[in-house]
Amino acid sequence: MQHTTIAILGGGNLGTAIAHGLHSTGDYQPENIMVTRRKMHDVEELTQKGMRVLTNNQQAVATADIIILCVQPKQLFGLLQDVKGALSVGKHLLVSTITGVSIGEIEAIVGQDLPIVRAMPNTAIAIRESMTCIATKNASEAQMKRVESIFNVMGRTLRIEEELVAAATVLGASGIAFCLRYIRALAQGGIQMGFHAEEAQAIAVQTCRGAATLILEGGRHPEMEIDKVTTPQGCTIAGLNEMEHNGLSSAVIKGIMTSYQRIANIQK
Ligand SMILES: NC(=O)c1ccc[n+]([C@@H]2O[C@H](COP(=O)([O-])OP(=O)(O)OC[C@H]3O[C@@H](n4cnc5c(N)ncnc54)[C@H](OP(=O)(O)O)[C@@H]3O)[C@@H](O)[C@H]2O)c1
Repeated sequence: MQHTTIAILGGGNLGTAIAHGLHSTGDYQPENIMVTRRKMHDVEELTQKGMRVLTNNQQAVATADIIILCVQPKQLFGLLQDVKGALSVGKHLLVSTITGVSIGEIEAIVGQDLPIVRAMPNTAIAIRESMTCIATKNASEAQMKRVESIFNVMGRTLRIEEELVAAATVLGASGIAFCLRYIRALAQGGIQMGFHAEEAQAIAVQTCRGAATLILEGGRHPEMEIDKVTTPQGCTIAGLNEMEHNGLSSAVIKGIMTSYQRIANIQK
């Protein structure tokens, strides 16, 4: 059991997902997981599990070792102004999940040389299946290992350069939505062929899980697994080619690049 106390500032979609993920590991005392938000609603599930929900950020920061920032980018400035007086070098490790806000920008607001790590998880963190990319400019190796140990139990982590955090946001965090939309499209095709919606979804979801697991466990390039399914002149290659003629890969790449360009314009 870890004795670390974690304060998640901003208990929205991602903040609560992280809280549930941390709780489900069993590695933390539930009361050592704190979540803050300004309005006390949608917090019953957290409090029922023994986690603490507060409206006072300074109070949460005062008792925490690790602070995870989970507010919207435009809410960050106000939040940091609120807590910066309670932050202290040597005690706190700051982890920011905020899209589009650099370590330098956070440093400029808090005004002290705190170790700061940017972490880009996704909402699958609630079920311990996140892909979390982490980056730093000034955290020590020991501090990075600490952050890794938090996120490793809730999925996989990858260390990246800070310059790639925006790309990681699109591929890993927005990527959840991209994958889910593909699953929905598969299911819609299934319905048109005669399955009920629940049956079509069950087949689509398990098939996507199987495809991902083949790559995760086999470590091969996706095209090598595709080759095993595409019988010459068969139905799979006919369907795949039709999808590509309609721009499947191109649409995905273009969508990713549009999201990536949008990140640079996110309002802070
Ligand atoms: N969702 C994702 O998949 C994902 C993935 C990676 C990164 N991110 C990043 O994570 C951040 C949060 O995203 P989200 O989707 O979780 O947003 P969200 O659902 O809007 O959550 C933000 C939460 O912050 C709370 N909040 C705002 N100001 C606060 C303050 N001063 N003190 C305490 N709590 C405050 C809000 O609750 P009250 O209004 O009640 O205060 C709200 O619950 C964003 O910067 C996003 O870019 C999200």
